[in-house]
Amino acid sequence: MVKSVDEMNKTEKEELLEIITIDLKAILSEERYLHSISTMKKAKEIAKAHHYDEQIAMLTALAHDIAKEMTNEEYYTYAKENNIPLDEFDYLNVIALHGKVGAHIAWKKYGFTKEMQDAIYYHTTGRANMTLLDKIIYLADKLEDRRNYNEVEELRKIYKDSNNLDKTILWDIDNDTIPKRIEKQKLIHPNSIYARNDILAKNSK
Ligand SMILES: [Fe+2]
Ligand SMILES: [Fe+2]
Repeated sequence: MVKSVDEMNKTEKEELLEIITIDLKAILSEERYLHSISTMKKAKEIAKAHHYDEQIAMLTALAHDIAKEMTNEEYYTYAKENNIPLDEFDYLNVIALHGKVGAHIAWKKYGFTKEMQDAIYYHTTGRANMTLLDKIIYLADKLEDRRNYNEVEELRKIYKDSNNLDKTILWDIDNDTIPKRIEKQKLIHPNSIYARNDILAKNSK
């Protein structure tokens, strides 16, 4: 068993950041590696602004796409070998599966806590009742400085002007995540809908 992150001191967490960085460089393409580093930097910035533990945010963000370049075959084999329950969306909507598998790898290999695993698990879809770490990772992934998709400038502006994580996530779901799925005639993961409804319901009270 690897040591759990919540039992690590600051120096051990710094060392773990270095270990994961080295691992990612070996596993991922150059582009995805640079995206991971950039997501880590953005997560640090958002964590600081929202008074969350910067090291935890950085570790989680760094590892968020650890499983992104596995093949479908590898996902299914890994899930089977590790007793990870898969649902219909994992077969039809494989994009979210790298979060599910990545969360498990991060626990097994690096001792990530449940909270950190969840933030990786849900980073592509969001979910109802997102934790602060969920929100930091979701947005760091979408806002990191290397991103250049059409909607990113508007998303950056909304975050900068509002400094509101819920508002920024809601805009992303409504203007990027869901429209893109519709445009491609792909399934919308129910967790994106749950995240959206939850944010709207909480903010209408
Ligand atoms: Fe991802
Ligand atoms: Fe990512």
